[in-house]
Amino acid sequence: MKISNGTNSPVQQIKERLSIEEIVSSYIKLDRVGTNFKAKCPFHNEKTPSFFVSPDRASYYCFGCGAKGDIFTFIEEFEGLDFKGALKILSERAGISLAGFSREKEGEKERLYRVMEESTKFFEKNLVGSKEVLLYLKGRGLEDKTIKDFRIGFVKNDWRELYNYLQKNGFSDKEIELAGLTKKTEKGMYDRFRGRIMFPISDSSGRITAFSGRIFSAEGGSASGGEDFKYEQAKYLNSPDTPIFSKSAILYGLDKAKDSIRKNNFSILVEGQMDLVLSHQAGFRNTVATSGTALSDSTVSKENVISNLGLLRRLSTNIVLAFDADRAGFNASTRAGKIALSFGMDVKVVSLPEGVDPADLISGKCLPAGRQGVDAWHAAIRNSKHIIEFILDKILNNNKEDTHKNRLDSARLVGREIKERILPYVDSIESSIEKSYFIKLISNKSGIAEDALIEDLKKVESELKSETEETKIAKENIGKKMRKDPIERRLLGIAFWQESLPIGQTGIKNRIIDPELIFKKLNKAKEIYKNIKEDLIYEAEEFYSNNENLDKDINEMLLNVEEEYLNEELAEKMMDLQNLKGKKEEIEILKKINEINKRKENIKNNRFKK
Ligand code: UTP
Ligand code: MN
Repeated sequence: MKISNGTNSPVQQIKERLSIEEIVSSYIKLDRVGTNFKAKCPFHNEKTPSFFVSPDRASYYCFGCGAKGDIFTFIEEFEGLDFKGALKILSERAGISLAGFSREKEGEKERLYRVMEESTKFFEKNLVGSKEVLLYLKGRGLEDKTIKDFRIGFVKNDWRELYNYLQKNGFSDKEIELAGLTKKTEKGMYDRFRGRIMFPISDSSGRITAFSGRIFSAEGGSASGGEDFKYEQAKYLNSPDTPIFSKSAILYGLDKAKDSIRKNNFSILVEGQMDLVLSHQAGFRNTVATSGTALSDSTVSKENVISNLGLLRRLSTNIVLAFDADRAGFNASTRAGKIALSFGMDVKVVSLPEGVDPADLISGKCLPAGRQGVDAWHAAIRNSKHIIEFILDKILNNNKEDTHKNRLDSARLVGREIKERILPYVDSIESSIEKSYFIKLISNKSGIAEDALIEDLKKVESELKSETEETKIAKENIGKKMRKDPIERRLLGIAFWQESLPIGQTGIKNRIIDPELIFKKLNKAKEIYKNIKEDLIYEAEEFYSNNENLDKDINEMLLNVEEEYLNEELAEKMMDLQNLKGKKEEIEILKKINEINKRKENIKNNRFKK
C-alpha cells in the first residue's frame, strides 16, 4: 500500500484545485441555472439541454442518457482515455506533479509507455545524424520546428538498432516485444521497424502509444523523390495492437488538434501522416488523420468508426473531410461521411485535383511556380462543399462529359445515380428541414422534379431499412456505450483493492469497507473486469487512499449503477409489454414497470434538486 505521509494524494489535490464547472466548461458551453449549470449533453445527441453540472457535488449528470461522474470520468469519457490518461491531463492542468506519488512497482502499462517514450527519443536522436533523411523531409516541405513538434525520427536499416538500445536501457525482451517494437524468431529478436522515418502516435493525453514508420531507403526510391517507386515492403508500417494501442481506434494528431478543433469549431480529417503534419504546419492545427486505418479501412468495424467520429463530434459537430481524390479516398470519405451525417454532424468535403493529396498541395508540388501551397490549402478548405453537394456535382460533371449518349439516356442515368448514390445520404440526415433543403438543391441542380425525388427517397428509405436500423443502434450506442462502465469499474476497483489488503486480527481491520458489499451487487461486471484487476486497483488506490469520503462516494456510485440496472430492466420489460399486449400477463408487467419507475424516481429525487 501507499505510504501515507499526511499529504493528500494527487487525485485529491487535483480535485481541490480544479472545479467541475471549470473542467466541463473548457469543453462545452455551460449556462447557469441557480447554483447549477446546464448544457446540451456531449455524450448523446440532443436538442434541448438535459446535462447538469453541480459545483456543490463536484459532479455532472445527464437526465437524457444517464451520463454521470466527476472530473475524472468526464475526461475519460470525453477524450476516450483510461483513468491514467485522464490523470495525466488533469495533473498537468492543475500543475501537480505525479512524480513522487507513483507506486513502488511500475505496472505493465507504465513500462510500455516508457519503452515507447525511450524509443521515440532514440529515433529522434538518429534523425539528427541522418543528413539524407533530413534532406528528404525538408524536400517534402517540413520545417525543423515541425519535425521537433511531432517528434519525427528515423531508424537505420539494420536488424537490431532499437532492440540493442532498449536492452541496454533496462527493458526486458518481453516488454519490448509486448510493445510491438520487435518480432521474434528462433534466432532471436529483431526490430519491426527498419530503415524507416518514424512518426510517433499519441493518445489524446499525449502519451506515445504506437509508431507509424514510412519507408526510406538510401539507395533511391523515396530519397530521390520517386513517388511512383514500387515498394517491396509496405510504404507505411504501423505498430500492431498492444495493451496500450488499438490500431483502429486512434486518430493521429488528436492530442495536438483537440484544443484547436474546439476553438475553431470544426475538424479537418485527412488520411496520411504527411498530410497531417503539413496541414498543422500550414496553420490548420485542427487537423487529425485516420492514419489509413481508423476510418477508411473497410475491415475496421463500424464501432471504431463510430468511436472515432463520436470523439470528434464531442469536440465539434462540424467536420471537413480531405481525402485523396482516388476511388479509395472517395469511398473512405463517403463511408465516414454517412455515419457522421447520421450523428447530426455537418459534413463537408474538400475537392482536390485527381492524384493530389493535401501534403502535395501544401508543399506546392503540383502548383505552377510562384503560387503558395499554403494558400491553396486554405482555399481548398474554404471552398469545401457539403458532402451531398460534393457527390452530386461529381455525378453531374461525369455525365456532362459524356456527349455520346442521347439526352433521355443521360437523364435516366443521372436519375439512377442520384437515387443510388445520393438519396441514401439525404436519408441519413436527421433534421427534416435539412432534408427538404437538400431535395430542393438536388432538384435545382439536376432538373429532376422535387416530387419525383421525394418518391424515390421513400423507396430508398424502405430499401435501406436494415442499414438504417444499424445506424440507429450505432447512434444509441454512441450515447450509451460506456455509460455505466466507468462507475462499475471504479466500484470494482475499490472492491478488488480492499480485497487485496490483508485482513487484520480483528476481522476487517485493514479494510475501509467490506468488498463483498460491492461484489454482491456487481456480480456480472466482476466477471468481465477481473482480467484488468491490477489496473482497477491502481485507479482505486490513486483515488481513495487517504480519502475520508470513501463511504459516501461508494453509496453514491452504488445508487448510480442501480439506476443503470433499473434502466436495463425497464427496457426489457417494455419489450415484454410489446410482445404480450392484450394477454393476461400484461397487467403484471405494467405493475413491474410502475415499480421500476418509482425506484428510479426515488434515486433521481435524491440526486439533484433542480
Ligand atoms: P498513401 O499511400 O496515400 O501515402 O497512404 P501518403 O500519405 O501519400 O504517403 P507519403 O506522402 O508518400 O509519405 C495514405 C495513408 O495510409 C496509410 C498511412 O497512414 C498513409 O499516410 N498507409 C499507407 C498505411 O498505413 N500503410 C501503407 O502501406 C500505405
Ligand atoms: Mn502523399
